[in-house]
Amino acid sequence: MIFPVLLCGGSGSRLWPLSRASYPKQFVPLVGEETLFQASARRVKGAEFAAPVVLTGSDFRFIVTEQLQEIGIDPGAVLIEPEGRNTAPAILAAAFHLSAQDPDAVMLVAPSDHVVPNTNAFRAAVMRGLGAVHAGKLVTFGIQPTDPNTGYGYLELSGVPDGTGRAMDLRSFAEKPNSDRAQQMFDEGNFLWNSGLFLFKARDIIAAFEVHAPKLMGTVSLAVAEAQNDLGFLRLEINAWLAAEDISIDYAVMENTDNLAVVPFDGDWSDLGGWDAVWKEGMADANGVVTSGSATAIDCSQTLLRSDSAQLELVGIGLEDVMVVAMNDAVLVADKARAQDVKQAVAALKDKG
Ligand code: GDD
Ligand code: MG
Repeated sequence: MIFPVLLCGGSGSRLWPLSRASYPKQFVPLVGEETLFQASARRVKGAEFAAPVVLTGSDFRFIVTEQLQEIGIDPGAVLIEPEGRNTAPAILAAAFHLSAQDPDAVMLVAPSDHVVPNTNAFRAAVMRGLGAVHAGKLVTFGIQPTDPNTGYGYLELSGVPDGTGRAMDLRSFAEKPNSDRAQQMFDEGNFLWNSGLFLFKARDIIAAFEVHAPKLMGTVSLAVAEAQNDLGFLRLEINAWLAAEDISIDYAVMENTDNLAVVPFDGDWSDLGGWDAVWKEGMADANGVVTSGSATAIDCSQTLLRSDSAQLELVGIGLEDVMVVAMNDAVLVADKARAQDVKQAVAALKDKG
């Protein structure tokens, strides 16, 4: 049995104005009718999987249960983080929670902000990782890079993949390199992107934290041991939790351990990290125009026109490589090449108060 651990605490500011601190991107139908969180939960529903453990913030707890209910999934547990402390404390909390029942529990840690259209390929990859997990490895899933992206972790292979998709050992892990280093790794060719999914036994990830992030052990285990049951949610103990360092699993553990393996994943995968990625995943017409909601394109090309407002009719004329996202209370108009800069809009608006 594999225990899915669904992470959905991030806020995704590069998808403003659709993604808000109060309603982050994973809970919004960005591509298709389901939300990314629902699609992630559905991917791990099946005979091989136990009920998922979900980790999220207090503000999102009812969104989580409502969205799971809509697709007929009963969570095994919903752990509430009093405040976001990034993925390392969240994953360690899930590990402590599961290991209280069974230290050998196999956890599949899954982000909730990805598009993975082929569920069968996804599950097959997970199953291919189990051998390495039983050998005590921390298993990552690697994606063939398509550009020298600086927003991902890079996995250095220890050899050439044999084409079977079997797990292989990793030489190193580099989280979000600078652009020179990313270009170097992209050119060298023996690197994969880290998909952000992980597979390991609870005891093995706890042991890795003990070595590489010992300071988190005491605070997080206390927060879990003293968690309060609150209307069916498990609320992590606030004082212990707030003392935990804010750090991602990638920096806390993955960059420092030599116990990694990777399963190459060659199915489609996208981390919807910006509106350009949403445009790429959308149903484009012959001119590369993706429209959604009440939006009309006239003589446009390679453009995204999206209205998420029933009151707003959006028309683009003669646009090229532009992204327009309209909501009732905010409109984004941007050059498609500047998709990563959308987070600056959020920062600028915050400064304005
Ligand atoms: N519960 C919880 N609490 N979830 C969180 C928190 C938190 O404090 N912070 C982030 N998450 C969730 C996000 O919602 C997302 O689903 C997942 O954890 C990953 O966090 P991101 O903040 O999106 O990470 P990233 O995209 O910058 O980097 C990670 O993913 C890349 C692939 O998309 C890293 O693992 C990279 O190495 C990887 O390449
Ligand atoms: Mg992400």
